[in-house]
Amino acid sequence: MKNYLRAHLQEHKVYQSARQEFVGSDREMILLDANENPYDWPYHRYPDPLQGKLKKCISKWKKVGVDQIYLGNGSDEIINQLLLAFCEPGEESILICPPTFGMYNVSADLYQVSCEKVPLTKNFQLDIAGIEEALHPKMKLCFIPTPNNPTANRFSQADLKHLASIFPGILVIDEAYAEFDPSDSAINWYSNFSNVVILQTFSKAQGMAGARLGMAFGPPPIIAGLLKVKAPYNINQLTLEAAQDQIETQQHRVRSMVNEMTQERNKMMTALNQLDYVLQVFPSDANFFLIRVDDSSLRYQQLIEKGIVVRNADKNMNCENCLRISVGIPKENELLIEAMNAMALIKK
Ligand SMILES: Cc1ncc(COP(=O)(O)O)c(C=O)c1O
Repeated sequence: MKNYLRAHLQEHKVYQSARQEFVGSDREMILLDANENPYDWPYHRYPDPLQGKLKKCISKWKKVGVDQIYLGNGSDEIINQLLLAFCEPGEESILICPPTFGMYNVSADLYQVSCEKVPLTKNFQLDIAGIEEALHPKMKLCFIPTPNNPTANRFSQADLKHLASIFPGILVIDEAYAEFDPSDSAINWYSNFSNVVILQTFSKAQGMAGARLGMAFGPPPIIAGLLKVKAPYNINQLTLEAAQDQIETQQHRVRSMVNEMTQERNKMMTALNQLDYVLQVFPSDANFFLIRVDDSSLRYQQLIEKGIVVRNADKNMNCENCLRISVGIPKENELLIEAMNAMALIKK
């Protein structure tokens, strides 16, 4: 099997945290190893560096092996860790397909790894022929979010499998919005490939953006590579506990919120499509959608004046005059529709 890890990390000795040797042991131990405050005080102990309990719980939930799971402080951190573990600065590169999630390029810049781009087609699909032409052996990571951010559409599983089969490095399929169609997930087939990593997060449909927890699923050698660059206690105890509770007790509630967000999204898209200054409403498979308006800076500013913040996506490739709008609770969505209806009357 191909070894994707950067050469100097192959022999790299991971920092062994004090608690690592004893986690999972059934014996009650007297813990005098980590210079903590010994008194009974909330969170006075370091969290489990291996995140064993939560990983077991995720393993049952997602039906993947514990050795195929890596947890990060949000997917954002995992994107950084992927760059750090697998890309040689100044030598190797990543591939992205703009318009896409901004963090991939930012992380590549941060780690001095070049970021190559093959834009999506005009209707925001993957340009597979263009990608094939651009491929070279120094491309180490390819990041594809599906549903895509900011365009909100999904890419076909057939295209993603094809991409996995031709990409020389690791294909990272970022499923931050997976809950909006769990059946259409690479989690069902990624284990047929030795170079596919999936990212999912607790920040979106799970409703836990403030807890900062991202998950990566991938082949054990790639997960082992990520573990080499992990900070010893990267996930805090509050988050470990909250996430386990969320998985064990709240998934029915998440499903009903996802259903409601989907209905609300469709209602918003239909309403905004009626407005004369909304030139295009792009299809969405997530809890946000993209629209093209006559003048996105003007409409953005008008919404701000009405106390509503959306995202001006104008600077993204092929998104001129586009706004990205997240679905709120029904009352907020009503207020957005009302505000945008009133704006239709304003002459430029
Ligand atoms: C495609 C995609 N990936 C990752 C993230 C970041 O997720 P997290 O909050 O887990 O860092 C976002 C957030 O907007 C996103 O849209």
